[in-house]
Amino acid sequence: MSSTAEIKVDGKTLELPLIEGTENEKAIDISSLRGDSGVITIDPGFKNTGSTQSAITFLDGEKGILRYRGYSIEELAEKSTFLEVSYLLIYGELPTPAQYQEFTKTITNHTLVHEDIKKILEGFPSTAHPMGVLSSLVCAQTAFYPASLDPNRAAPEVDMSIIRLLAKMPTFAAWSFKNQIGHPVNYPDNSLDYCSNFLKMMFATPAEAYEVDPVVANALDKLLILHADHEQNCSTSTVRMVGSSHASLYASISGGINALWGPLHGGANQAVIEMLENIKKDGGDTKKWMAKAKDKNDPFRLMGFGHRVYKNFDPRARIIKKAADDVLAKLGVNDPILEIAKGLEEEALNDSYFVERKLYPNVDFYSGIIYRALGIPTDMFTVMFAMGRLPGWIAQWKEMRENKEPIGRPRQVYTGYKERAYAPIDKR
Ligand code: CMC
Repeated sequence: MSSTAEIKVDGKTLELPLIEGTENEKAIDISSLRGDSGVITIDPGFKNTGSTQSAITFLDGEKGILRYRGYSIEELAEKSTFLEVSYLLIYGELPTPAQYQEFTKTITNHTLVHEDIKKILEGFPSTAHPMGVLSSLVCAQTAFYPASLDPNRAAPEVDMSIIRLLAKMPTFAAWSFKNQIGHPVNYPDNSLDYCSNFLKMMFATPAEAYEVDPVVANALDKLLILHADHEQNCSTSTVRMVGSSHASLYASISGGINALWGPLHGGANQAVIEMLENIKKDGGDTKKWMAKAKDKNDPFRLMGFGHRVYKNFDPRARIIKKAADDVLAKLGVNDPILEIAKGLEEEALNDSYFVERKLYPNVDFYSGIIYRALGIPTDMFTVMFAMGRLPGWIAQWKEMRENKEPIGRPRQVYTGYKERAYAPIDKR
């Protein structure tokens, strides 16, 4: 195949280089297009636009493939741990036993947060959504570690910010929940592993003893692995975009948390459960809700269905569906909304509207059901997603900075008024 593509603009033929990735994905490099022809490309929602070349995650939406640094998501979910996957994403290789021990130990040493974080928390009303609190606390790290604002720090110092963020994220997440329910916060317990420590900070109260259930901790670890990276999605692109101005790691990740919050992205896991609850309250008539989802005059969408890139199946959803069955069976939970979810899935998979548009259950369709079974409250679901996505965001931010990528600054096609004269207020 040729290594160039031709484009004809106003009768002039331009030759543009073709770039090929390691999995044979091809892209036309249009960086010289405007300079050579005066035209730009336009692609709202970036449906056909690659923003970067990245060596972190490979995803083939047609074949339902997802790999982190070359390792399949199925194998990692079965055999690895969240911290090992975090190391893999951030540093590019699976750690040796010594590297893993050091990485885990350093993270464990930094779980405690500054006492003044409590004062910030106290400023939030109990109505604050934990995602807003989380993004604020992450951004507030710039105040406690002002050296992180220097974009030209040496690599070991950047690494320290990375470790701090990974270490403190579960503390911030659990505290954002405690603040919401008006309970005292729990300090980290460094004798526990990453997920067990989070669960203890989240659920223990001074009133009674709390033992972490290993079934719950293992299920959570697997969920975090499944969410750990997903190439250039909305929140990751946000992290890279914010970081491209040389804003600090903390500010960039805080931006990513906000992007994740929306119901079309990570917020879908909360929206799925709310939708299933509504269907249950409404008598469980899934056909009625399917009809609403297909009605173009109704804003309702079947939450947890459809994906920008997966047009066959979402491999994460397959693993999660099975995990949901396992977890519910192990914990002895009988959740009626699981039956509603399965019924909806069955109907959608046999409905021409969904089949023609290639709309399949995505990762969020079943993750909410597991979170519920694990006792996680609904508006903490997206916080769980953020905890899982953190190493991916960090890896993408680090890659972007190490590759010295330019500031992100798209162009536009202007459709407003041409120049007009200012009219004084009494003349309008
Ligand atoms: N229910 C009903 N119709 C849908 C749905 C849905 N969930 N998703 C897409 N469609 C229809 C849409 O109306 C459009 O129809 P038409 O061609 O007749 O206009 C067609 O399918 C294509 O949809 P689109 O909105 O152009 O596709 P997109 O790639 O811009 O959006 C999406 C992808 C995930 C935002 C969308 O499918 C959606 O809103 N899904 C529900 C929210 C959701 O579950 N989000 C979680 C995504 S996975 C987790 C993550 O990575 O964040």
